[in-house]
Amino acid sequence: MRKKITVVGAGNVGATAVHWAAERELGDIVLIDILEGTPQGKALDLMEARPVEGFDVAITGTNSYEDTKNSDVVIITAGLPRKPGMSREDLLQKNREIVEPVTQQIVKYSPHCFIIMVSNPLDTMTYLAYKVSGFAKNRVMGMAGILDSARFRTFIAMELNISVEEVQAFVLGGHGDDMVPLIRYSTVAGIPISELIPEDRIRAIVDRTRKAGGEIVNLLKTGSAFYSPSASAVQMAEAILKDKKRILPCAAYLQGEYGLNDMFFGVPVVLGANGVEKIIEVPLTAEEKAAVEKSAREVKESTSKLNR
Ligand code: NAI
Ligand code: 2OP
Repeated sequence: MRKKITVVGAGNVGATAVHWAAERELGDIVLIDILEGTPQGKALDLMEARPVEGFDVAITGTNSYEDTKNSDVVIITAGLPRKPGMSREDLLQKNREIVEPVTQQIVKYSPHCFIIMVSNPLDTMTYLAYKVSGFAKNRVMGMAGILDSARFRTFIAMELNISVEEVQAFVLGGHGDDMVPLIRYSTVAGIPISELIPEDRIRAIVDRTRKAGGEIVNLLKTGSAFYSPSASAVQMAEAILKDKKRILPCAAYLQGEYGLNDMFFGVPVVLGANGVEKIIEVPLTAEEKAAVEKSAREVKESTSKLNR
């Protein structure tokens, strides 16, 4: 039997996630939104692209959670995006009012699914979904680290004028401007970037990575990035659905790892058929630890607003 994926929110990230997932034939896909006609129209349009692109999955647009029944993976993108001048934190109150009932409906109709959160502020919305769902910690996770790392990898490749395929890099921490791009663990064809790029240029790349979401918001003016975020969420879904056991940076629930407790935070995990199967702890220098602690404080402060 085919796998079933639900994408909640038929906006920029949600609809594009359906596009990537359909092209990869990850399973049958349901796109749900509160807007009447939008998920139906986008789903039908993608169905009509199938003969041209040659992918064979069913895509259903709906406003009813009944249609999402028994999904294996649910990607939540419902919520407001940022506008210029806004931080991700500015979205917290509005998006909690969306994410909480959405999660309740998901749990009701797909009690065995894995939840991949995308809505912002990411680490806090993932925590909210974890609490509301009552799911085990391996079944709820947030997408940010793959995106932040992809941005870091992009800027490294652009700096050196080489293929992005050669660049391995990862970003730890919360999905905010205090995220922690790990220079020591970033390589080009196995060569540490510090051997290839001067220190001041690395600092500029790290800074651009931290602000990369805002850079796109300022260019688009009416919303935030969606191609790379949706591709990143679908990479997580694929790792679960195909039991790939990929090592990817994701927001995972921490219980002591990296010295942090009771919070979602971006860390490298093994992602497979059981969701977050393992959290990988990498050794950090004192400076890196301090940066992680700063980012963690920012996430804790955000998550504490859920109780207000
Ligand atoms: P968008 O505005 O294009 O789409 C959001 C969709 O959610 C709209 O179609 C809206 O009708 C729908 N929606 C609102 N309330 C709903 C509800 N109760 N049930 C179902 N659908 C509902 O926004 P976009 O660009 O797709 O972004 C979505 C969210 O993802 C935002 O919160 C944004 O900040 C976040 N985001 C997170 C990223 C990350 O790295 N984690 C990256 C990019 C976006
Ligand atoms: C981003 O980083 C908006 O969080 C989103 O592009």
